[in-house]
Amino acid sequence: MQSFFHCVGLVGTGAMGRGIAQMAAQAGAKVHLMDAQPGAASGARDALAKTWDSLVGKGKMTQEARDACLARLHVAEAMADLGGCDLVIEAIVERLEVKQGLFKQLEDIVPPETVLVSNTSSLSITAIGAALRRPQRFAGYHFFNPVPLMKVVEVIAGLKTEPSVCERLIGFTKAYGHTPVMAQDTPGFIVNHAGRGYGTEALRVVGERVADFATIDRILRDQIGFRLGPFELMDLTALDVSHPVMESIYHQYYEEPRYRPSVITAQRLAGGVVGKKVGDGFYRYVDGAAQVPAEPAPPQVDELPPVWVSPKAARRQELYQLLKNLDARIETGAAPSEKALILVAPLGMDVTTLAAVERLDATRTLGIDMMLEDSATKRRVLATNPATRPDMRDAAHALFARDGKAVSVVRDSGGFVSQRVVATIVNIAADMCQQGICSPADLDVAVTLGLGYPMGPLAMGDRIGPTNVLEILFNLQTVYGDPRYRPSPWLRRRGALGLSLTHEEV
Ligand code: NAI
Repeated sequence: MQSFFHCVGLVGTGAMGRGIAQMAAQAGAKVHLMDAQPGAASGARDALAKTWDSLVGKGKMTQEARDACLARLHVAEAMADLGGCDLVIEAIVERLEVKQGLFKQLEDIVPPETVLVSNTSSLSITAIGAALRRPQRFAGYHFFNPVPLMKVVEVIAGLKTEPSVCERLIGFTKAYGHTPVMAQDTPGFIVNHAGRGYGTEALRVVGERVADFATIDRILRDQIGFRLGPFELMDLTALDVSHPVMESIYHQYYEEPRYRPSVITAQRLAGGVVGKKVGDGFYRYVDGAAQVPAEPAPPQVDELPPVWVSPKAARRQELYQLLKNLDARIETGAAPSEKALILVAPLGMDVTTLAAVERLDATRTLGIDMMLEDSATKRRVLATNPATRPDMRDAAHALFARDGKAVSVVRDSGGFVSQRVVATIVNIAADMCQQGICSPADLDVAVTLGLGYPMGPLAMGDRIGPTNVLEILFNLQTVYGDPRYRPSPWLRRRGALGLSLTHEEV
């Protein structure tokens, strides 16, 4: 089967269309640029000439390659000029009836074997294809912005798309050095679906006043390795873009609780506090720089109390070792002494419940997040409960900051910030595998390249241990009684059997 497309039509030469045209030309295809707005297509050609000039200037492209690419770019005067194309990519306005109208028009112009694709990010491929006489030659071909830098492309099969069409698109994508991933036609496809967990769960945490925006951003950057915290990310994307996406996916999945948007972003959007581009979002921006509130210094405590660790603590031996390294006085009795600082290390459960169930003195009890080993993180997170005494909070903070490592003290919640956010991300990804939206391998690749996460969600689940992720979710469900935490069957079965999340069933 021939995978390469020799002549590519691009309809819509805005931000996306010109990036896609650049890739097609660099792959060696002849490209016809078409836009409804007079002058837009030739403007796109001029802009691409500048882009290639700058690549030549940086030594990333030869002058000959630049000249050859530019010679392959043609400005189409009329739709009929696309008649010789074997692939036509649509990147026009995001409206179903306008896209359908365009494809109907194209079907009258191109031969029956020409592949037609849409770069839509939110419309159903099956719905667009329903207007075509031959929907089997139609697919989704979803790029990310900016196209040359975002190296992943989703190839989406509608209900009637012929598999060979997707295979050709996959081959073509590889020709310009991007990574193709294959998705079934479902709301958000892969990347915009898998990305639902991060912001929404962080918003729930902030909505419970567990910690402020800046603290949650620090925790997720330092503990998990996200490049941007969820609130920094929402400020960058801007809420006029991201809040409607949250609402759209939620409604398209018929109010599935896992994707429930937040009143916090709805209100901020209504108030115009949408992010960096207006200078005001979760952070304020002065000359483009976020004004981040300073982190409180660890308290000075003259004499630290002895420390007693609950026998049920997660990673108990590692916690003991950490306490030894910090030169703490460790109590090893069956019960804490009257003076001891009491530590619990829950997975998904809240500190309050553990103190009550284990009959611990809540006034002296704090939680520490041990989901990951201490050496793997750049920050320790402690949680108080409503009864915790200020001197015990300060003692715990001072003790865990002794070696200079960053410490955040947050309020009690089911799980810790990282546990909740990671378990939510893993659970959504597991459910996408359960639904067969894509292969586990494509899911992890798409999220790593499309969202810049430190690792794919399934790899993240395997890193923490599927059984631990399952425990976090079961406990979150108990604490909150909210169906959004119910584990996906994919996770439940693999967690119960101790199998990797990428393990595919026969
Ligand atoms: P844009 O507004 O920069 O460009 C759209 C272009 O299409 C304009 O030049 C416009 O004149 C032209 N156009 C509109 N209707 C047309 C028609 N009926 N026939 C011919 N040309 C027409 O928009 P952008 O950002 O390039 O997005 C285009 C498409 O790509 C949308 O469907 C969008 O959902 C999708 N997309 C956008 C992403 C983004 O981050 N901007 C990411 C992924 C997909």
